[in-house]
Amino acid sequence: MQERLDRFISGQVAGISRAEAQKLIRRGAVSVGKEVCRRPERKISPDTDEITLNGERIGYKKYLYIMLNKPAGVVCSTRDGLSETVLALLPPDLRRRGLFPAGRLDKDTVGFVLITDDGALAHRLLSPKRHVDKKYCVRLRDPIDPGAAEKFSAGMELDGEKLLPAGLEITGERECYITLREGRYHQIKRMFGALGNEVTYLKRTEFAGIPLDPSLSEGQARELSPREEQALKKEDNSSLSYFFPSN
Ligand code: URA
Repeated sequence: MQERLDRFISGQVAGISRAEAQKLIRRGAVSVGKEVCRRPERKISPDTDEITLNGERIGYKKYLYIMLNKPAGVVCSTRDGLSETVLALLPPDLRRRGLFPAGRLDKDTVGFVLITDDGALAHRLLSPKRHVDKKYCVRLRDPIDPGAAEKFSAGMELDGEKLLPAGLEITGERECYITLREGRYHQIKRMFGALGNEVTYLKRTEFAGIPLDPSLSEGQARELSPREEQALKKEDNSSLSYFFPSN
């Protein structure tokens, strides 16, 4: 697919607006192949044309896939008048037009948020039909109900709606991991609330089978590795078959 040269540059190079790209092109800072091109409207083929800016090749990435370790206090949206959004946390080299968080964590939940500009993939991952696994570490106010694993795996009913089976691994009297294959509003808080308990800490540790990189501290982000990107695009990235072999 062809794209205008000015649009390509502002889309691929962090911090360069379309107007700035046009100025750079007119000034002769940009080459297509070996030739300087001064026409911002020139159509290029991003996959095959070599574009250089001030003598440096611009690497082409159609989409970005970013893992962010979200801290508490920021919201998963592209805009919010009151609170900081996850996009504001991205380092300058990972910022570009069109990025958005694929799915939401509550403001006080921490951990793995996927940020991308690949709308089609995000749509597939978030589709209720797709059942992408999300794993969370949960700390609770009170000891875990001994029947919780059974109730969650049977698929609880919450406010009249039947939930999909969820996997529970108990790691302490008040601590566990829970794996969901859907993402309803405040789901984990409401699941434990229905058992008379209260979530005091919630961290997403895995998304679509990809673990949160333990070297990322809260607020830090990095691009997915090629292997992680492949895992994200795999049709079936469920680990819940471990709990529910027949699903
Ligand atoms: N469940 C919740 O209650 N909150 C989240 O942020 C994610 C899952």
